[in-house]
Amino acid sequence: MKKNERTFTLIPYLFHYKWHYVLGITVLLAVDLASLYIPQFTGEIVDGLSKGLLTNVGPLLLKILAAGLIMTLGRFGWRYFIVGASRGIEYRLRNDMFGHLETLSARYYNSRKTGDLMAHFTNDLQAVRQATGMAVITVFDAVIMTVMVLVKMMVYVSFRLTVFAFLPLISVAVACYFFGVESKKRQLKRQEAFSELSDKVQESLAGIRVMKAFVQEEKDLEAFDAASRNSMEKTLSAVKLWTVAGPFLDAVTGVSILLTLIFGGKMVLAGQVSIGQFVAFNSYIGMLVWPMIACGDSVNAFTQAAAAFKRIAAIFREEPDITDLFTADQSSGQDKDIRIRGDISIRDLSFTYPDGELPVLSHVNLHIAQGEMLGILARTGSGKSTLADLLLRVYDCEKGAILLDGRPIDEYPLAVLHRDMAYVPQDNFLFSDTLEENLAFGLEERVANHPELREQIQQAAKDACIHDNIMEFPEQYQTVVGERGVTLSGGQKQRSSIARAFLKNSAVLILDDSLSAVDTDTEEQILKNLLRLRKGKTTIIIAHRISTLQQADRVAVLEEGRLAEYGTHQELLEKDGFYAHIYEKQQLEQELAAAD
Ligand SMILES: Nc1ncnc2c1ncn2[C@@H]1O[C@H](COP(=O)(O)OP(=O)(O)O)[C@@H](O)[C@H]1O
Ligand SMILES: [Mg+2]
Repeated sequence: MKKNERTFTLIPYLFHYKWHYVLGITVLLAVDLASLYIPQFTGEIVDGLSKGLLTNVGPLLLKILAAGLIMTLGRFGWRYFIVGASRGIEYRLRNDMFGHLETLSARYYNSRKTGDLMAHFTNDLQAVRQATGMAVITVFDAVIMTVMVLVKMMVYVSFRLTVFAFLPLISVAVACYFFGVESKKRQLKRQEAFSELSDKVQESLAGIRVMKAFVQEEKDLEAFDAASRNSMEKTLSAVKLWTVAGPFLDAVTGVSILLTLIFGGKMVLAGQVSIGQFVAFNSYIGMLVWPMIACGDSVNAFTQAAAAFKRIAAIFREEPDITDLFTADQSSGQDKDIRIRGDISIRDLSFTYPDGELPVLSHVNLHIAQGEMLGILARTGSGKSTLADLLLRVYDCEKGAILLDGRPIDEYPLAVLHRDMAYVPQDNFLFSDTLEENLAFGLEERVANHPELREQIQQAAKDACIHDNIMEFPEQYQTVVGERGVTLSGGQKQRSSIARAFLKNSAVLILDDSLSAVDTDTEEQILKNLLRLRKGKTTIIIAHRISTLQQADRVAVLEEGRLAEYGTHQELLEKDGFYAHIYEKQQLEQELAAAD
């Protein structure tokens, strides 16, 4: 797969919010400065009181109040700026990621699990958000705070006492880092155990009918019990860590305070520091504990975010491998206006999937003139759907193997291909939306804005024999389908997809086994409409029933990726090969069914 050479960085995202960060950190500085003076003012009040002076109390209390006010407003301020920036970065990054993923081709998605891609949007983005928001605040706050408090303690109280009290606290930072690493490991195991458990529940519930039919409930209960127990054990192991961490922190802080009391007490008695200074000093020690914890935590947050960002950057390095041959400025304006008429030439087409060994198609030659209907018959796995994908350029084949109106397929802008070719896939897909929007999916306009389209939509639905079903739904064309709505049967889904393609009415239409779940009478009706609607337009119809295929101008029979038979219904019957064999078999089945 092609890789993008240019490295993807967070810098443009951070730069976009540079003023948020500048203002946020400035406010942070102001808050820290204000909080620094509170113990000092308290100390001065104590000193005043111990000398029996009351005059200072009033002004000092006012100063404390002012500092408190600055802190309250400031905390709002830095949250607003920095957390706001991190949310903004997450939002932009998420949109860019989604936009980029939409450009990637089928090949990329073949080799990725949806669950993994989802994880980038949840866990990875969250890690980046935390690192660009709270972790930035924490680190700046912790560093500014530590430096300022230490300086204050040394200048205002005593250098020696500061060193004694501070040394044990360094171990808090180191311990918190390691606690963090270990905790992450255990959290990860806990998450794994949990997703295993939810997979198990989902699978069991989805397969409950099979399970009951084979009387496997007992065995399944055992498996569930094991998964559930595992989840509990991993959770407990994660929780246990913090039951150790808490007391450890208390012990270290306790040692610091003990040292302060012993040495500080002696210094007070010796008259080296005042009682007020001593009181202030104790507050300062308390103020240092949090930054120490924070430093350890933030280092963790940044390492996690770095790993998450690497995974996100890997997505951005993927380049779509199906691209327009001509970039926008090279292609003349005509290119976009070009119309596909529908003459398809397949010349010596061979194709092997990137991860496959044997060719799925080999040396296929076919010509479908404009307005012709080609039928394709083959066993499962012979490459029919692959051929459809190649005609739609979901995958690229050798240049010149597929010509549209005499021109190599990769010379058409993708937008033109998507506009002029319609496809009814084997595995029909309807979106969780109203039936109306689902049918109008191939149109450029949304029906909500163009109500005049409703008539066309209903006509297409009638042609695809789905209109009557839709009218029976509680909200008719406004009925929502999918997970949160009405569940359609396989045949109803197929007919909805056909209606969608009829509505698009494009120069080329490919139906991939699209009538398999439709009963024969309805099929006959749809075929009649198909022949009428597709007059003069190219249609490729992949099917199993000869009754369907005999309507086509010519039929191609594929065997293991090779073109085995080709001709009109009559010619193929005379040839007495695979086609004739299937025909006889189906004739016989029909007669037997009629005899029943
Ligand atoms: N995305 C894919 N990657 C690798 N092999 C594939 C892929 N899709 C289909 N194949 C293989 O290609 C062969 C032809 O598949 P397909 O075109 O779906 O056949 P048909 O539509 O005739 O049943 C099969 O052997 C199938 O396993
Ligand atoms: Mg198929």
